[in-house]
Amino acid sequence: MTAEQDERAFRALTRQITRVRGLACDAYKARCLRRRIAVRMRARGVHSFEEYTRLLDADAHEYDLLVDALTINLTKFFRNMETWRALEPRLATLWQARGGQVRAWSAGCASGEEPYTVAVALAETARRCRQASRLPQARVEATDIDRGSLERTRAATFPDASFTEMPAELARRYFTAAAPRRPLPVLQGLVHVAPHDLTSEPPPHPPYDLIVCRNVVIYFDRPMQERLFTQFADALTPGGILLLGNGDAVRPGARPARPRGAAGAHLPAARDVTEPAGPRERVVRVGEWAAERGEAVLVTLGLGSCVAIMLHDPQVCAGAMAHVLLPSRSLARDTTNPAKFPETAVPLLVARLTQLGADPRRLVAKLAGGASMFAQLMTPGTVQMGERNVLAVRDALRHAGIPIKGAAVGGGAGRSVRFYVADGRTEIRSVGSDAVLI
Ligand SMILES: C[S@@+](CC[C@H](N)C(=O)[O-])C[C@H]1O[C@@H](n2cnc3c(N)ncnc32)[C@H](O)[C@@H]1O
Repeated sequence: MTAEQDERAFRALTRQITRVRGLACDAYKARCLRRRIAVRMRARGVHSFEEYTRLLDADAHEYDLLVDALTINLTKFFRNMETWRALEPRLATLWQARGGQVRAWSAGCASGEEPYTVAVALAETARRCRQASRLPQARVEATDIDRGSLERTRAATFPDASFTEMPAELARRYFTAAAPRRPLPVLQGLVHVAPHDLTSEPPPHPPYDLIVCRNVVIYFDRPMQERLFTQFADALTPGGILLLGNGDAVRPGARPARPRGAAGAHLPAARDVTEPAGPRERVVRVGEWAAERGEAVLVTLGLGSCVAIMLHDPQVCAGAMAHVLLPSRSLARDTTNPAKFPETAVPLLVARLTQLGADPRRLVAKLAGGASMFAQLMTPGTVQMGERNVLAVRDALRHAGIPIKGAAVGGGAGRSVRFYVADGRTEIRSVGSDAVLI
């Protein structure tokens, strides 16, 4: 079959999926659709789109399996915890400003873990503000295109696997103990579930103070993403927050407009990771590291209790960054990634910089992060994870004989960092305030 015939058969298949199941395939990335459809084709032992189209005609249940595969509804409570940590102080500001009447929308909510994460975050905010009685005034709308996901969100019974990223204390406070776990009465009535197709319908009940749309737009093509970002911006209240997922990049040119009338719009800053804004920018995500020479900029966002370590050799204009997560390997189940822990991340950065021509004796370090997140959950007097991370990084640097030239650590706010490898300049931006240089 020629590439042209293959493309024609693929288009005929996607048109049929749209006609029969209403899924607007043309809004999704073709590469992504092809990959997902191929998974189903392999599962059914067919080798061409034409054959698969015929199979769908004969077996309606295959449509359910295909739509499931296309809409991918993987999720967890507090997925990418750092994002939710960074959101915490912003949510408190929002709560105070709205007197508790916060309206949130979880768009593409899958089986409900995300809207219930928002509900827990709001309940925690209310508790910290000593306004727990106002919690029923808050509202979380949960929408998805997938009927099965909506049924699961309505049922609100969650398997243990959904809780692996949620702090145990929060799980105990807001969910029943026995599996399958259910939300406790304090959360009941907060989450409202409805069907909604992001590709063809406007936001259901704007305005919103918080829109959470994570790991959904990544599947859409660029024009669809741009349309959605504009819709989100229009649907947000002034000062409202848009929370996206790790891969849901707002690219240059697709940057959302400010919400109408917004004085201090919080759109991009609430995202956990942005896409590189230029060819020489590299994003270092949680538990990752990178090393560069020359004009590169190493960027990391969503630093809560984590610490960004920046090492620099001014003579050869080389720099490296790691976004470490935990003070020690003894606290982790998976210890295979050395960039997660200061004790292994520092030698790793030194080794890579040496390969790039740096001299370990010339290296200087800067640190950022180590904030005290979810401080209220800790017993007074105990050392916070953020502080422990900072102490462990200082230890690892001392051990490697690398002096610390600047640090922006501690406090209660999340941070983002831009590290200019050419001259070692490091811009630190705390959530809700202006950038500082260290
Ligand atoms: C990977 S899950 C993300 C779940 C959750 N937001 C998270 O990050 O944990 C993607 C969800 O987007 C939903 N989805 C896909 N296309 C959609 C559309 N056109 N409109 C609304 N939801 C959609 C899927 O059904 C699925 O539940």
